[in-house]
Amino acid sequence: MRFRTLEFTGSTLRLLDQTKLPRTEQFLDCTTVSDVFHAIRSLVVRGAPAIGVAAGYAMVLAAQGADCRSRAGILAALNQAGDYLKSCRPTAVNLAWAIDRMIAVANNSTANNCGELVTLLETEARAIEAEDRTMCEKIGANGEPLIPDGATILTHCNAGALATAGIGTALAVIYAAQAHGKKIRVYADETRPLWQGARLTAWELQQEGIEVTVLCDNAAGSLFAAGKIDAVIVGADRITKNGDVANKIGTYNVAVLAEKHGVPFYVAAPQSTIDQQLISGEQIPIEMRAPEEVIKPGGVIIAAEGTRVYNPAFDVTPNALITAIITDEGLWHGGRWDGRT
Ligand code: MRU
Repeated sequence: MRFRTLEFTGSTLRLLDQTKLPRTEQFLDCTTVSDVFHAIRSLVVRGAPAIGVAAGYAMVLAAQGADCRSRAGILAALNQAGDYLKSCRPTAVNLAWAIDRMIAVANNSTANNCGELVTLLETEARAIEAEDRTMCEKIGANGEPLIPDGATILTHCNAGALATAGIGTALAVIYAAQAHGKKIRVYADETRPLWQGARLTAWELQQEGIEVTVLCDNAAGSLFAAGKIDAVIVGADRITKNGDVANKIGTYNVAVLAEKHGVPFYVAAPQSTIDQQLISGEQIPIEMRAPEEVIKPGGVIIAAEGTRVYNPAFDVTPNALITAIITDEGLWHGGRWDGRT
């Protein structure tokens, strides 16, 4: 990709500030756990896999800032940082997954001094990032055969390179199809209230030379009715053992439309997005966000004073509406999902 979503220098987590895209390509440097917490919370870095990778590096920063006098002190600081970071966005399971993995490395090590422990943690965080990159490539390769040459694909939100350390999940499939010489056209839902589709997906696809058209979320039905969509591909924030999928609010609407019009609906996600603890979608915690995102977009008030707002960040698409889940380990089919094999 022409851009780097995140980069760790050893003492600083440098994030491409996604709240500023596409107007400016600006970076935010995080040197503390609190910096990373606020960057995730405010969507400077976003998308389930990228959040997980960022959290891994935040745990390195936690260890670097810990009281080094005892091993117990460092472990306590890591646990505290982990709880704090987990609380910033509850739906994407990659966040807790990465933090738990970092804490397990610290717990399982015999390292007694700070320097040794920090090195171990940095190695683990870099491994999480590298694995994410590999998973994206594999998702692309596994999904590519599903996409015919000349296909028009609808996507929702941003599940591209900006949402991962690699080439993305849903968009990885599109990039892989393009790399195979297929001509692909993309419709990107604008994705209210924060416009990840209009601001991020359109920007990212344009960088890669893929034809993209942005539409208001509520225009999707008319596209399906006109027979203009060959497939839908979206990402996921959490997948439960039965194959239910939490993703950006509005994903469920698209899935219902796809079923109504006989269009395949694919979800692309890495293993780190599968929650082996949860049986089905109603158990997934859904993040509720500030009313201002809906009624004060860009700082401009668009609803009467005192208007009540419903602003969930995610919804759940039941497995029965999903044609297949494209993972780095292969394809699973909606309605017959029983977790990792
Ligand atoms: O609120 P966001 O922008 O973090 O939501 C992101 C999504 O819903 C993505 O589709 C999902 O995280 C998958 S990213 C590969």
